[in-house]
Amino acid sequence: MTFSRISMVGLGYIGLPTAALFAAHGTEVIGVDVSQKVVDTINQGKIHIVEPDLPEIVARTVAAGKLRAVTKPEPAQAFIVAVPTPFRENNEPDLSYIEKAAKAIAPVLEAGNLVVLESTSPVGATEQMAEWLAEARPDLTFPQTAGDDADVQVAHCPERVLPGRVVHELVENDRVIGGMSEKASEMSVALYKILVKGDCVVTNARTAEMCKLTENSSRDVQIAFANELSIICDKFGIDVWELISLANRHPRVDILRPGAGVGGHCIAVDPWFIVASARDEAKLIRAAREGNDAKPKWVVEKGRQAILDVLSDDPSRSMSGIRLACLGLAFKPDIDDLRESPAVEIVRDFAHLGCEVLAVEPHIEELPKSFEDLPVTLTDLNAAIETADVVCVLVRHTAFAGVSDLVPERARFIDVVGL
Ligand SMILES: NC(=O)c1ccc[n+]([C@@H]2O[C@H](COP(=O)([O-])OP(=O)(O)OC[C@H]3O[C@@H](n4cnc5c(N)ncnc54)[C@H](O)[C@@H]3O)[C@@H](O)[C@H]2O)c1
Repeated sequence: MTFSRISMVGLGYIGLPTAALFAAHGTEVIGVDVSQKVVDTINQGKIHIVEPDLPEIVARTVAAGKLRAVTKPEPAQAFIVAVPTPFRENNEPDLSYIEKAAKAIAPVLEAGNLVVLESTSPVGATEQMAEWLAEARPDLTFPQTAGDDADVQVAHCPERVLPGRVVHELVENDRVIGGMSEKASEMSVALYKILVKGDCVVTNARTAEMCKLTENSSRDVQIAFANELSIICDKFGIDVWELISLANRHPRVDILRPGAGVGGHCIAVDPWFIVASARDEAKLIRAAREGNDAKPKWVVEKGRQAILDVLSDDPSRSMSGIRLACLGLAFKPDIDDLRESPAVEIVRDFAHLGCEVLAVEPHIEELPKSFEDLPVTLTDLNAAIETADVVCVLVRHTAFAGVSDLVPERARFIDVVGL
């Protein structure tokens, strides 16, 4: 089976690099996105996301006529769906983007096509997508009823790339391929082998869905353990960093680093997809999620206590005169991404205490709009440290190395990331 014309549905952080790399490998790619702005940007050979090496590949493939973007799907041999899968207020997965994408591509499906769901999805989502396709196209057969003989095959192939290294990892990483039938898996391997140098390992759709959720839940549970240790150690007056480095000398122990919490759009989200459909069974995964979600509040309480100490040392001062420096706003070290960041939550809570907050984030030029009405100022590192009463390190950015030596003796110092 060869694919000369494919369609990428959803042209964001995952879809655009995938589309561009298929195009760079000689496949004609039609990118589909509901955003006219995204489509226009790509058709000008430009990109709307930040990802190293991607601008050149998009410019080159668009100029060569191998990649073009549209808002309305067109016929192709394979469709890869990489639309968002957020969760709702109650931590239930929101599959409405997948549903809309399925209903948009259904009219142009033809016998012999393959549809791959790449979005991170709860178990059963691929089968649900196949149902939506079948409802829209009663004239075609799908694998839930026709198996290997289906007109249109359907598979799940989750993505596990690291932002900032996407162009490299899309090619080098192993892929998990979960077909709803053997034929679907076979076709998907042929599709991904166009660009993937890593192994394409075949399983079924449900296992592939659960595999992606398991990878991120595993990280979440391990970080929750480290975070819980940090709170227990604080209670006992033990240095958690020394403790972890000692424990990790055991040949079979490998404890991760505690931090301010867990953020981003993957690890802080995906475990809920398991909890939502296995409420009675997923006890540890839920406890880890709740533990990591609670860590920012613990950090705020540490900061509040430090401020109260400053005020009790000098009763002439008041809360509004206290300066608190927060080092880091991103959800993890050395990136500019503030999405779901525990550091952002902490800085907002500090601001609500009524003190003046100096936020230091070397990777951004200005504070997000959500800080507009709060007493928070984006400040450079030295100015913040020199004037703050309390210095709180929230993100382990490389730019903060050595900061602990610079904090004046009069200032309280809270380091939740082990600089
Ligand atoms: N970003 C990551 O690092 C990462 C890593 C692994 C997996 N994932 C998963 O990949 C999926 C996509 O994530 P992303 O980061 O690329 O999202 P994104 O928000 O960057 O991009 C999604 C794109 O889909 C478009 N879109 C929305 N509905 C559409 C529709 N009905 N038809 C066509 N386009 C539509 C949006 O306009 C947007 O451009 C999610 O399930 C995410 O969990 C993301």
